[in-house]
Amino acid sequence: MIYLAPMQGLTEVLFRKAHYKVFGNAIDVAVSPFVSLTHGDLSLAHKKIKDILPENNNNSIAVVPQILGREIPEFIDLANRLYQIGYTEINWNIGCPVSKVAHKKRGSGILPYPADVENILSKVVPNISASLSIKMRLGYETPTDIDKLIPILNNFPLKSITIHPRIGIQMYDGELDLDTFANSIAKLNHHIIFNGDIKTLHHYKHICRMFPSISDVMIGRGILANPLLASEIKGHTFENKQSVYLDFVRSLFEEIEHNPMPEISKMRKTKEYWQYFSQHFILDNSDIRKVLLSETLAETQNNILTLLSDPTVGALHSL
Ligand SMILES: Cc1cc2nc3c(=O)[nH]c(=O)nc-3n(C[C@H](O)[C@H](O)[C@H](O)COP(=O)(O)O)c2cc1C
Repeated sequence: MIYLAPMQGLTEVLFRKAHYKVFGNAIDVAVSPFVSLTHGDLSLAHKKIKDILPENNNNSIAVVPQILGREIPEFIDLANRLYQIGYTEINWNIGCPVSKVAHKKRGSGILPYPADVENILSKVVPNISASLSIKMRLGYETPTDIDKLIPILNNFPLKSITIHPRIGIQMYDGELDLDTFANSIAKLNHHIIFNGDIKTLHHYKHICRMFPSISDVMIGRGILANPLLASEIKGHTFENKQSVYLDFVRSLFEEIEHNPMPEISKMRKTKEYWQYFSQHFILDNSDIRKVLLSETLAETQNNILTLLSDPTVGALHSL
């Protein structure tokens, strides 16, 4: 199975719909960007909840809602409300590396505190109707954090554990610690999903060869840079990859246009996606900047479409 990684402001419903429209079921499941238990009133009208409401996710990739936080009553309440609207799996984020989150023992900041993890799981798991899965890192400041967590995690009936083999303070860069990952999955009695740095079919095959027990992967930045990647992993070949890429970009722009957010936010969002698209192509820095300096949404979109339509534009990896 291929999971779409949760990425705040990026893999939200408009991206999921655009991807589904062009690539169908190439991605099996998307874990939603997190809903934080400290985001105030978490009613169905909340922006983050709207993103996962089933009625807003028709013709899109199947979603598993993700929760970030350590507030037990709020966790149980939100998980059970999500269950009532149809979500039979909830994902708990204990991997977020952002320091203002981690410093409050949330996200990856809870990983050095196994007793806290155990306490939360022991109260949440028996009191929610949905099954719980976890998305985590190896630790916060050290990859040895996971050693103390393994026996605890093994004591609970979890649906799966997605592991990003870095520690919190690395953020999203630096080496993946594949040795600690290998040692950890050998001791975990849960279904494991691998997440981290899969950017090409070649990377995917490499991970499968290294970890034959892994059948599921989660991909974030790789799919943002190359939306064709999930289909390629599933064995689909495209005659004209550049034109399929453009179909996807147009479909994403349509979703952005139809979204009720202010024009300036649409432009900013388009530029955020551009940061990923532009990594996939061989472009001059001046061309990349030209998009970033565009002053309107229409100009931003036109500049992107013009650059990516150029038949001479090369792709870094597989186009
Ligand atoms: C901008 C950004 C936002 C992210 N938001 C979330 C999030 O809401 N929840 C989460 O579990 N991980 C989040 N992540 C981490 C990704 O889900 C993923 O674990 C990470 O990007 C590594 O996978 P990749 O190399 O395939 O991108 C985010 C990462 C980035 C770069």
